[in-house]
Amino acid sequence: MCGIVGYIGDRNVYDVLIKGLHRLEYRGYDSAGVALETPEGNINVYKARGKVANLEAFCKDKNLDASCGIAHTRWATHGEPSDSNAHPHFSEDKKLALVHNGTIENYKVLKDALIKHGCKFHSETDTEVLVQLIEYIRLKNDCDLIDAVREALHQVQGAYAIAVIECGHPEQIVAARKSSPLVIGIGKNEFFLASDATPIVEYTKDVVYVKDEQIAVVRRGEPLKLVTLENEEADIDVTELEFSISQLEKGGYPHFMLKEIFEQPSTLLDCIRGRVVEGGHKIVLNGVRDNKEKFLNAKRIVIVACGTSWHAGLIGKYLLQEMCGLPVVVEYASEFRYNNPVINSDDIVIAISQSGETADTLAAIEIARDKGAFVYGISNVVGSSIPRCTHSGTYIHVGPEIGVASTKAFTGQVMVLTLLALAVGELRGTVSREELEKCGEWIQKIPGLVREVLKLNDKIERLSAIYTYARNFLYLGRGYNYPTALEGALKLKEISYIHAEGYPAAEMKHGPIALIDAEMPSVIIAPDDHLYEKVVSNVQQVKARGGSIIAIVTEGDDIISKIADYVLEVPKVPEFLTPIITSIPLQLLSYYIAINKGKDVDMPRNLAKSVTVE
Ligand code: M6R
Repeated sequence: MCGIVGYIGDRNVYDVLIKGLHRLEYRGYDSAGVALETPEGNINVYKARGKVANLEAFCKDKNLDASCGIAHTRWATHGEPSDSNAHPHFSEDKKLALVHNGTIENYKVLKDALIKHGCKFHSETDTEVLVQLIEYIRLKNDCDLIDAVREALHQVQGAYAIAVIECGHPEQIVAARKSSPLVIGIGKNEFFLASDATPIVEYTKDVVYVKDEQIAVVRRGEPLKLVTLENEEADIDVTELEFSISQLEKGGYPHFMLKEIFEQPSTLLDCIRGRVVEGGHKIVLNGVRDNKEKFLNAKRIVIVACGTSWHAGLIGKYLLQEMCGLPVVVEYASEFRYNNPVINSDDIVIAISQSGETADTLAAIEIARDKGAFVYGISNVVGSSIPRCTHSGTYIHVGPEIGVASTKAFTGQVMVLTLLALAVGELRGTVSREELEKCGEWIQKIPGLVREVLKLNDKIERLSAIYTYARNFLYLGRGYNYPTALEGALKLKEISYIHAEGYPAAEMKHGPIALIDAEMPSVIIAPDDHLYEKVVSNVQQVKARGGSIIAIVTEGDDIISKIADYVLEVPKVPEFLTPIITSIPLQLLSYYIAINKGKDVDMPRNLAKSVTVE
């Protein structure tokens, strides 16, 4: 949700900022802008509606000479996407320029007060209020920029990661964060600032994750300085980045989404590496091993997440209930935070988030912690906020996911939940040694089996042409594959803008069956599991009403294969592993339908990868 970048150093400032914006574009892409401070201390701001490429075109004939600069790619919250609402925003006297990721909740009160003091506003954004407030305080108190930022941040409520530059100070950038991410890269005589480490990794691996309510001051030729809002100096904790620049490139694929779908054999291998050991006979999850008492004494598990991560959470419910015999509830984090959740100290709350920055999930964690629950995080982005505010957890280790539609993170989340269920089941005595060994052996086969499933690519590409112009889709599945149906439907709507609904197959007769006709295709996920016979009846019900069917079945299927219009066969695996296998053809189907429709699959309209606002 918006990306910010900053640079101070001897490289070409504009080039570093634009490259950084491209890397962060997945976070929001309705407008972009840069503020460049010349060596003489003048600030030039250039902004353009649309993607970063528009900004580049706009800047072609501009003065790009700079000693330092800040930049922004926007996902609109306050005010429509437009040149005037794009960041950076100037203060009224044009002495300060600021970029912001987050939302200032009390902006209206602050704005009214500033208007009374004579400030004029040129945008509808909450961000402009913040920069005007900082400048107002700086002038009123006759203080320096850092003190003005500190004072202003005491007055604002909400979430922010900001970077500010000041006329006449081309050697300095001031930045701060609360509830929105901010990373600082430390190079030789240079500093990089960004919403995540992707714009930084090609220059340096040394980064500092700024903590909530800290202000960072980067000055040319001086060490990084961090102070709290109370003006106390904070420790600087330098972390080494674990990923490389090649993971951020498309590697020959036309889109990140396709690359990420095809990466799954190796990302799943990375996910289980060191965790499924001794030929599959041992599951090692440090988060469980180090918190045995919590898992032994737990009475209930509550899973909180959003979007695709919520679908993974639903699969987690089936896994944990089957393997650990514990009651599990799965809640949308956005609902959980406001529905007076009843949480006990012997509950374990599992928060799932690819980005580790989702605002609703972070808020749910805070509530769960306040109520005394043990909170376990499952995230992908190392060093992100969620792993830092949970008691323990597991990274899915699938590498940076750039495509807005989550694919490899979903299968990584499901894999981690599988390992978690087995590890906790073993600990609690609900999974026997023999069962664990059998499951572990199957898990080790999964990366290779996913590689087999990916061989369906060409068939799915051909099949997609038949369905490109369908206006609605129904996705049906049961048991472990009910959440897979939800995920398949979400994937299709996100990137192709076709309306799609996921349903538990048996629920169809309670309403959605009314929709079925020759114009309404159903994608039915029907692997050979204990509910197979029941799904056969659902398939027949669709067929009897003239509906067209694409079925995902197990190799050798000879019942549904004869009824469905099109069949995609996947290898046989135990029931608990089927969602990982069956979700792959669904990802490919959505990808190709969206491509046929000419959609931008990596940056679908209105969406952003990291949803750091409510
Ligand atoms: O980063 P998170 O996993 O917390 O993100 C949650 C959702 O915003 C995310 O899964 C979203 O639904 C994706 N666009 C799905 O493809």
